[in-house]
Amino acid sequence: MYNLVVFASGNGSTLQAIIDNIVSGNLNANIQLVVSDNPNAFALSRAQNANIPTYIIRNKQISEVDFELLDVLSHYDIDLIVLAGYLKLIGPNLINNYTIINTHPALLPKYGGKGMYGMNVHRAVINAHETKSGVTLHYVNEKYDSGDIIRQTVVDVFPDDTPEDLSARVQAAEKIQLIEALKKFEK
Ligand code: GAR
Repeated sequence: MYNLVVFASGNGSTLQAIIDNIVSGNLNANIQLVVSDNPNAFALSRAQNANIPTYIIRNKQISEVDFELLDVLSHYDIDLIVLAGYLKLIGPNLINNYTIINTHPALLPKYGGKGMYGMNVHRAVINAHETKSGVTLHYVNEKYDSGDIIRQTVVDVFPDDTPEDLSARVQAAEKIQLIEALKKFEK
């Protein structure tokens, strides 16, 4: 059993996959807290439905958020922080005190960096006529999408794909990859 904190800014389907795998017994972990910078994130409802405590970030500046979260997280026993569709940069205090991983919906180092999240990534991949995209799980550092890569999964891009088609295919692969990787963190 190991303790996770999940950060999510939006829909939270990735969070839901983690919850579902814990509930089914496939993943021997416990989500201590779900953190969001977006009070309207559906991820928060998913957490509440699963009786997981939630925390909404108050500050806006990255440096202030960093100190705010360092304080909040100090009240929990945490083995791993998972960024699951979390769109803000992570500050140096959190980076130095926790192991943090992020799942990104493309084959980094391509299609990463500021502004490259969610559908923006899939639109860019399709506009560039790529035939392959995928998912990257990586450690988080102080820059967007540039920490050491843990694993990648390649996904086909078909000529008539819409960004929505590609997103669905990538997200399906993303959940499989993340759960497999999280199982490797199990104690
Ligand atoms: C996921 O596909 C994740 O890779 C992406 O946002 C989506 C969140 O979906 N993250 C990024 O683009 C980060 N750069 P969800 O809210 O349904 O879990």
